[in-house]
Amino acid sequence: MIIPLQLGPDSYEIVMERGALADAGRWFRLRRKVLIVTDDGVPRAYADALAEQCAEARVVCLPQGESTKCFDSLIRLLREMVEFGMSRGDCAVAVGGGMVGDLTGFAAACFMRGIDFYNVPTTVLSQVDSSIGGKTAIDLDGFKNIVGAFHQPRGVLVDTELLLTLPPRQVANGLAEAVKMLLCFDEKAFSLFEQADPLEHMDEIIERSLRIKKDVVEQDEKEQGLRRVLNFGHTLGHGIESLHEENGLYHGECVALGMLPMCSEPVRSRLLPVLERLGLPTRCAAEPSRVMRAVAHDKKRTEDGVNVILVEQAGTYIQRRMTMEELRERYISCFGERTK
Ligand code: GLY
Repeated sequence: MIIPLQLGPDSYEIVMERGALADAGRWFRLRRKVLIVTDDGVPRAYADALAEQCAEARVVCLPQGESTKCFDSLIRLLREMVEFGMSRGDCAVAVGGGMVGDLTGFAAACFMRGIDFYNVPTTVLSQVDSSIGGKTAIDLDGFKNIVGAFHQPRGVLVDTELLLTLPPRQVANGLAEAVKMLLCFDEKAFSLFEQADPLEHMDEIIERSLRIKKDVVEQDEKEQGLRRVLNFGHTLGHGIESLHEENGLYHGECVALGMLPMCSEPVRSRLLPVLERLGLPTRCAAEPSRVMRAVAHDKKRTEDGVNVILVEQAGTYIQRRMTMEELRERYISCFGERTK
């Protein structure tokens, strides 16, 4: 199945097909120098399968984890591009999850003022969300995605067979982003999480999420308004995530927690069992003052508060500004002063 993403000259196709990686050359222009970027948590066979289809390939394997999304890795990729003798007509391909996609996309945006890049997302999280839409970035000094650029991929290949090697916790982590999109836009699809085993409906959930994301990005590529809805759960989620060294939570797990205080009581009572069934956390021990401090540092903050998304009715959302005090009160009324 082909899902076209219409962005004028930056339009591209999202190919969603089981086994598509083996046929990537049909969808991506690989008869040139191709820098393939992956990480050591991704089966090496995926990058190798792609390399076989390129005229000339160099594979760079980075250490897995968010701490790799940094300036040193960016410099490493840019040096690899120079040493490989790449020119403006060559391209980079990310084979991995959100970290690999964000970093590779940003390196592609910087090298020679922008070269082509493609995404082969290998996690649920990157297949439903981060691989499309052109947000590329690295982190700096504890600020997530603070240095980056909008640089659309030339194509995205969503091969759900690549998910079969993922540990269950990683699957649930990605499904949190799908829950986010369906809860805001599609109550019927959200009810799949309530009434059925989501693992038996993965392709349907991924496709539905991709179509929502495509519609949002087509209407608001640079996040001037509508696209902010995709930050549902992320304001508090990023605050909780900034404490990940002590709480050990993954991004999607933090988003799951971050959504709960932003829902009305009836929506929260539907969301809680969905998260619990997925094995996602529903209680948060992070101290409110520390979470709020991290939120205040978040790049979305402006003087008079933060932009937040609220879901008062499943399938719809409200965008509004909220003071830090209001946000703190919501957090406390959902999780308590300190639940540890
Ligand atoms: N992951 C949020 C966005 O792409 O805007």
